[in-house]
Amino acid sequence: MKVLIVGASRGLGLEFVRQYRSSGAVVTATARDAQGLVRLEALGAKALNVDVADVASASGLEWLVDGEAFDVAVYNAGAYGPHSSGLDTPTAEEFDAVMHTNVLGAMRVLPQLNGVLAPGAKLAVLSSRMGSIGEREAAFGWLYRASKAALNSVLKDASLVLKGQATCVALHPGWVKTDMGGSGADLTPERSVTDLRKVIAGLRTADNGKFFNHDGSAIAW
Ligand SMILES: NC(=O)c1ccc[n+]([C@@H]2O[C@H](COP(=O)([O-])OP(=O)(O)OC[C@H]3O[C@@H](n4cnc5c(N)ncnc54)[C@H](OP(=O)(O)O)[C@@H]3O)[C@@H](O)[C@H]2O)c1
Repeated sequence: MKVLIVGASRGLGLEFVRQYRSSGAVVTATARDAQGLVRLEALGAKALNVDVADVASASGLEWLVDGEAFDVAVYNAGAYGPHSSGLDTPTAEEFDAVMHTNVLGAMRVLPQLNGVLAPGAKLAVLSSRMGSIGEREAAFGWLYRASKAALNSVLKDASLVLKGQATCVALHPGWVKTDMGGSGADLTPERSVTDLRKVIAGLRTADNGKFFNHDGSAIAW
């Protein structure tokens, strides 16, 4: 099996690489600094230097993976931005940093995967239940929420374009103990990624364009 993880220097991305490598998969993964690239190589992955928020860097991915046929591709890169509690207007810089990583980065990366997915491939983006409008009960982190709602829209469009070629889904990993989730979170990265890999492995073509929790249950858009 061939796997691509985009944004894998630490946290859930790195754990995806560790677990897919342990299962014997051939893994290509990206990071945007030297330490991240070293961590990926230490796990036996082919490490590529990609910053999804940089147009020149991100647009080079297609060339870096030319000729590959990935069975699983995961867009994991993400940024939380300001920890707002109410309707605190973000600065333009805060808005751009979050939206460029979570949304524009996906709009750069997903089109480039079109030619490097194996028949019947699975394509997942790491979204968040915080991006769900249908299940929303709180407003903290509203810039992050808006970015994941937009990422969900991007994933839905990718699922329509890639229908028949790949099964495309948005995934919520749970609240996970990473730099983003913090030490008080519910799940370890090991538990979350074990669950997410199971969800990905169990995807059927009818699941194309859906939004799943790490336990496999559906989440409303
Ligand atoms: N942890 C949670 O509770 C939780 C809950 C719901 C959803 N998620 C989502 O799950 C994904 C992984 O989260 P995490 O908890 O592992 O977060 P994390 O520990 O903060 O790691 C974020 C990852 O994204 C990468 N990244 C950020 N900006 C990037 C860019 N411009 N180009 C390339 N890579 C970039 C980071 O690389 P650098 O090391 O280079 O910064 C890092 O590898 C994210 O999309 C996040 O929104 C997490």
